[in-house]
Amino acid sequence: MRFDDNLSGERPSFVTHLECAMTGERHEADVVHNLSRAGKPLLVRYDLAGVKKALSKETIARRAPDLWRYRELLPVRKAADIVSLGECMTPIVPMPRLSKKLGGGDILVKDEGRLPTGSFKARGLVMAVSMAKALDIKHMAMPTNGNAGAALAAYATRAGIKTTIFCPEDTPEVNVSEIALQGADVYRVNGLIDDCGKIVGEGKAKVGWFDTSTLKEPYRIEGKKTMGLELAEQLGWDVPDAIFYPTGGGTGLIGMWKAFDELEKIGFIGSKRPRMVAVQASGCAPMVKAYEDGVEHAPRWENAHTIASGIRVPQAVGDFLILRAVRESKGFAIAVDDEAISAGLNEMAREEGFLLCPEGAATYAAYKKSLADGRVAKSDRAVLFNCASGLKYPLPKMERKLDRHQPIDYGMF
Ligand SMILES: Cc1ncc(COP(=O)(O)O)c(C=O)c1O
Repeated sequence: MRFDDNLSGERPSFVTHLECAMTGERHEADVVHNLSRAGKPLLVRYDLAGVKKALSKETIARRAPDLWRYRELLPVRKAADIVSLGECMTPIVPMPRLSKKLGGGDILVKDEGRLPTGSFKARGLVMAVSMAKALDIKHMAMPTNGNAGAALAAYATRAGIKTTIFCPEDTPEVNVSEIALQGADVYRVNGLIDDCGKIVGEGKAKVGWFDTSTLKEPYRIEGKKTMGLELAEQLGWDVPDAIFYPTGGGTGLIGMWKAFDELEKIGFIGSKRPRMVAVQASGCAPMVKAYEDGVEHAPRWENAHTIASGIRVPQAVGDFLILRAVRESKGFAIAVDDEAISAGLNEMAREEGFLLCPEGAATYAAYKKSLADGRVAKSDRAVLFNCASGLKYPLPKMERKLDRHQPIDYGMF
């Protein structure tokens, strides 16, 4: 096995068409799409009976450890269109001390911070940009809370595609800098991500760029789907009892739900599903409200605020898909406040030596809350998604200093 086997050789492609997630209407593959004719997200459909015949668990096990090992279940047809920066499989890190302390079951953190550009957004954007290359798109634009823009900038530059990105003005500095450094034009906007989305939407007709917004583009979700494929494979083609996912636009949650369905159809897993838990911040919790109100769509959340900037998404175009996955899986949606997020981040860093990002810390805070109120059983094995490296966020200053010219009081150590 060579390191680039998954990227270089041709493999059979099984995409049959795209389907409107709301109406089921069929849309043609291999042409440029944004939303469906009904104005809803499009989902890629495959000849799963064909995949079942062509692919075995053993074949996958022999392939290089990156997300392209699942190529038969991905939309990119030709190897030449793959735009890779090394999309490694991410580790599952157990947190035994915290499990013991809380008296619950296994806490497993899937650490997405190891991916190129330091976040899980690489999964979605490597797919979107590879498909943009295949479809000869020349200019991509996107609203972002930071990490998605960084991933788009990196991959689009690699593919030679021009990129214009809009982010809220208080987006973490590191994100804005990495976007610019990786070759995109980036603008801070005095608004939230949906305000940035409006600029991208309007510019589509005026500038002619491609709108790469979450779920308004059909392939980011296919990339995010690999979180579910990979997780199941890493657990021995099994699923955990619960998945805690920091939910903004929800692509990852919807993608994983789609992954489990496809895996069952190709005979790799059975009918067991994890309970999908959508985690939001109490300062921006449209999905939690809609879940509790028993409705299918979530109205815009006004005055959205949280330190977990990646999940500060006031309104999601795929709201009904998030809520559908949560409900069908018998999961739930839960909000945690910024204080609990900070406390969770500190606790895991100090007790397990693992630095979460704030969105990842939200999943840990939500797990603790759910264990305490009985929504998660003590025997449940839970997977928490740490969607970005904790190092991408501002960290507290450490002020202790020593003067090497003065006598040191060794008693203080
Ligand atoms: C670190 C982090 N976690 C979670 C999310 C939310 O992801 P999704 O859009 O899949 O809900 C984001 C999105 O920006 C993010 O950057």
